[in-house]
Amino acid sequence: MLDAPEITDAEYDAMMRELKALEQAHPELVTLDSPTQRVGGKPREGFVKVAHSSPMLSLDNALGEGELRDFDRRVRGLLGDEPFAYVAELKMDGLSLAVHYRDGRLSQAVTRGDGVIGEDVTENAKTIRSIPLRLKGAEGNRAGNCEVRGEVVFNRKAFEKLNAERDAAGLARFANPRNAAAGSLRVLDPKITQSRQLDFFTYFLFENGAPALDSQWKSLDKLQELGFKVNPKRKRCEDIESLVEFCREWAEKRDSLPYEIDGVVAKVDLVEQQNRLGWTAKAPRWAIAYKFAARQEQTVVEAIEVQVGRTGALTPVAHLRPVTVGGVTVARATLHNEDEIARLGLEIGDSVLVERSGDVIPKVVRVVEPGAHRHPFKMPRKCPVCGGEIVRAEGEAASRCINTNCPARLKESILHFAARGVMDIDGMGEALVDQLVESGLVENVADIYGLTVEQLMDLERMGKKSAEKLVKNIDASRRAALPRILNGLGIPFVGERTAQFLAEEFGDLDKIAAASEDELQKAGEVGPKIAASVRRFFDEKHNRDLIERLRKEGFSFTHEVKRRAGGPLAGGTFVLTGTLTALSRDEAKARIEAAGGKVAGSVSKKTDYVVAGEAAGSKLAKARELGIEVIDEKRLLEMMGPETIG
Ligand code: IVH
Repeated sequence: MLDAPEITDAEYDAMMRELKALEQAHPELVTLDSPTQRVGGKPREGFVKVAHSSPMLSLDNALGEGELRDFDRRVRGLLGDEPFAYVAELKMDGLSLAVHYRDGRLSQAVTRGDGVIGEDVTENAKTIRSIPLRLKGAEGNRAGNCEVRGEVVFNRKAFEKLNAERDAAGLARFANPRNAAAGSLRVLDPKITQSRQLDFFTYFLFENGAPALDSQWKSLDKLQELGFKVNPKRKRCEDIESLVEFCREWAEKRDSLPYEIDGVVAKVDLVEQQNRLGWTAKAPRWAIAYKFAARQEQTVVEAIEVQVGRTGALTPVAHLRPVTVGGVTVARATLHNEDEIARLGLEIGDSVLVERSGDVIPKVVRVVEPGAHRHPFKMPRKCPVCGGEIVRAEGEAASRCINTNCPARLKESILHFAARGVMDIDGMGEALVDQLVESGLVENVADIYGLTVEQLMDLERMGKKSAEKLVKNIDASRRAALPRILNGLGIPFVGERTAQFLAEEFGDLDKIAAASEDELQKAGEVGPKIAASVRRFFDEKHNRDLIERLRKEGFSFTHEVKRRAGGPLAGGTFVLTGTLTALSRDEAKARIEAAGGKVAGSVSKKTDYVVAGEAAGSKLAKARELGIEVIDEKRLLEMMGPETIG
């Protein structure tokens, strides 16, 4: 079977050594797809963004057998009682990846990203042994040019081992194998990917963004022939009873697998029938993800600790007697706030049921048995970190430390500022931030821009090389775009999306800082709660001071939508109408502009293309009247092309 390797790791290593020796003696024999080439290249500066050949959508979920039967009824209804079959596959809990082949050789690997645009992780993917560098038996035929989609998963035992190592090194643990898989694939240094035990299971074979064969079942066999791993636990089901049986079987046996699964995916087998069933805005109508119920185990709450977050909110966290829940050790669970503890009737020492639902932090479901020596939890009156005052505002569930200089708040706000997707300061992890704050080197986020290599080298576990790298990464973050800076500031209720929106609407941080609540709300999307929060933030002097410091550090607070003169849509004017499926309006606009095009609000003679989604109305009619070319979303995505836009 494919998931049982044909040779042991030791044998593999021995053969690899032999091959390396041979290649050293005869460099002319080294081929691009030789297994020795799996050593990833140099660490990269960042990831290049790549548009997918067709959107990588997700699936609708069926929770429970009832919803699975509802799905089956819908399918039968739409297919008008003609015969069909389901292909039942395990739903592996990892992250999806698209791998492209040209003339039988691996050419590019792209993460799912937002489903439309992903990140090029080719060098990292090359280090995963189950991703073939060359396809089997595809020479000279069209199978050599294809795209394969599948799931990258992290072996569960390796996950536990990695977390133990990270504990020992003072690094943050990965919450689950899926995060570990993502954290191992989306790293700039391919050597890290290589050092982790990742596996790739495939489930789609595409040509030009569409299924290559006329049946899913055949595709899976073909993928296997081409040298990919396909999960051997799959079943072709002629009716719903057989599908239900498969789901029940794997809900029982899931813990026997070396990787996590969180359900079963059922797909209508024939592509022709799939096409007739079609897609909704987000997911195909011909497939469903049957999700297993969350796994629960019983254990004891040994203590309740209080953590302070970046907004000062106090979160009680249960320390549990460690228990294995579905193969992963759980030792802590969030209790959210005082009200939740009261709702559970929980006291320290109680036996509780804990639940891990795959992605989220474990939670306490209910008290099973009060402890013999139980004692109630009390929210501290003083902040457990700085001793400052604790306030619980009326109508709020959270108690907060109101000392803005509280080191716990500071640590959290620096971690948020530096995080991936925010200011992207690689190397600024928890252990380091703890030291920076405790040593007094950093008292607010602007202070990190004054850190020197020498200062950093004085800290624990910090060599010259890492210190230099970190200073370089910090320096690079000065060039971050306004949406990231806004997000990084940690204004309550302003996340990535709102930050992007405010930056685009106002084009300048100073204008946002000067806007009244009314003006902020006029910008659409921003409601009264966000507007008030933004206003409050900029009304505080220490926040304004912080911004001035950042300005002096060379930050640019203006935001222009960059149009690429040479982009694939350069010079084109687009009008959007109707509901698009893969992209939101904002995304479509941003992508068109990033590709060099312009988006106008109404159709005129100057319009080059009208992009028509579902239920397109008067703009479509106008386009027809003026003889303007009408395209659909798929065509738009094609026009923006597999071209990189990073
Ligand atoms: S089919 C539209 N098959 O589950 C097609 N997905 O919510 C969706 N997954 O994003 C993909 N195992 O990351 C498919 N056998 C399988 C899968 C699978 C895991 C993941 C995949 C997808 C998510 C669907």
